[in-house]
Amino acid sequence: MTDYSQIPSPCYVLEENKLIHNLELINSVQKRAGVTIILALKGFAMFSTFPIVRKYLKGTTSSSLFEARLAREEFGGELHLYCPIYQENEFPDLIQGATHISFNSLRQWEQFKEKTLSTQISPGLRINPEYSPVEQDIYNPSSPLSRLGIRAEVLGDKLPEGIEGLHCHNLCESNSQALARTLEQIETLFGHYLPQIKWLNLGGGHLMTAKSYDIEHLIQVLTSFKTRYPHLDIYLEPGSAVAWETGVLRATVFDLIETSGPTIAILDVSFTAHMPDCLEMPYKPRIRGARDPQEEEPTYRMGGLTCLAGDFMGMGDYYFETPLQIGDTIVFEDMIHYTMVKTSMFNGIKHPAIGILSSDGSFKLVREFDYEDYKSRLS
Ligand SMILES: Cc1ncc(COP(=O)(O)O)c(C=O)c1O
Repeated sequence: MTDYSQIPSPCYVLEENKLIHNLELINSVQKRAGVTIILALKGFAMFSTFPIVRKYLKGTTSSSLFEARLAREEFGGELHLYCPIYQENEFPDLIQGATHISFNSLRQWEQFKEKTLSTQISPGLRINPEYSPVEQDIYNPSSPLSRLGIRAEVLGDKLPEGIEGLHCHNLCESNSQALARTLEQIETLFGHYLPQIKWLNLGGGHLMTAKSYDIEHLIQVLTSFKTRYPHLDIYLEPGSAVAWETGVLRATVFDLIETSGPTIAILDVSFTAHMPDCLEMPYKPRIRGARDPQEEEPTYRMGGLTCLAGDFMGMGDYYFETPLQIGDTIVFEDMIHYTMVKTSMFNGIKHPAIGILSSDGSFKLVREFDYEDYKSRLS
């Protein structure tokens, strides 16, 4: 049991041993399947953990100049780039230290071809496999009108001169069956290019650290693909899987509002500012010690501290064994991936602190935020 009295509220608390557990599993997959797995910074960029992550993963993938700079400064190793657009003024800085770069359109490749070919960076194209298991439009990059990736019919018989790789990202919290289906689709639509290239990047969305994920099937799918294309370096670039279930967001109950329905607990955290995927996806996060209420049971609704009317958990209420009191700790589970990288200081509210619960049980406060952090983003 974690002693939350030593941890400030609110605070994102990464649990070191859980991160190491995920990394060991991911490392065993890359070794057994003969592929390379790199970290997608868009999902998890808590760089105070990079000395640990680096022991297992040999690189990162970035989708913007700032991510690329962070990758160079704090991670090192292979640096893959994929941005929906590259911009002339940023390009020279962006590509510093990069090893691979994927272009989202033939036009962008034409524009940056010479500059890329004058470096050692290996260029590729992002393709749209026109298949995705993802039902939420906001997380489906392969819908018919997607702006992400080139459709097969747009590419000619041969890849443009100089292109060495293909990049495909179409999964989100997906299983190994979805990857198998993706590979089939790639072979059907883009198979004739595979002998011409050196690497294939299968993007993120492989939730291999989830308990329900079939690791053996994943390894079988990847090894059988590799048998057919032994010359290809295969990359996977998950974000979520690295930080999946590695920590929590610790919060506190500050007020309890009685209504004709559930009692509303107002917390010192915000769904829109600190747990945005809860509203975007949307999904109902698990709370430690709480469960879905059964009929007639007293229920609590979790509310945020901004003035946004919709800043509450609208996907369902909670039942707590012990009635909530002002000052109680609320622990939102699995709040490390796609949180810190997406948060805002909307409404001028304080950003949760960031800390690490070390393997020996001690708590290390890594970062706190103050008024200057808020002010420095405005003018
Ligand atoms: C191009 C690309 N690569 C990798 C990822 C990481 O995906 P995930 O965090 O779901 O593994 C994403 C997520 O959006 C992405 O767009």
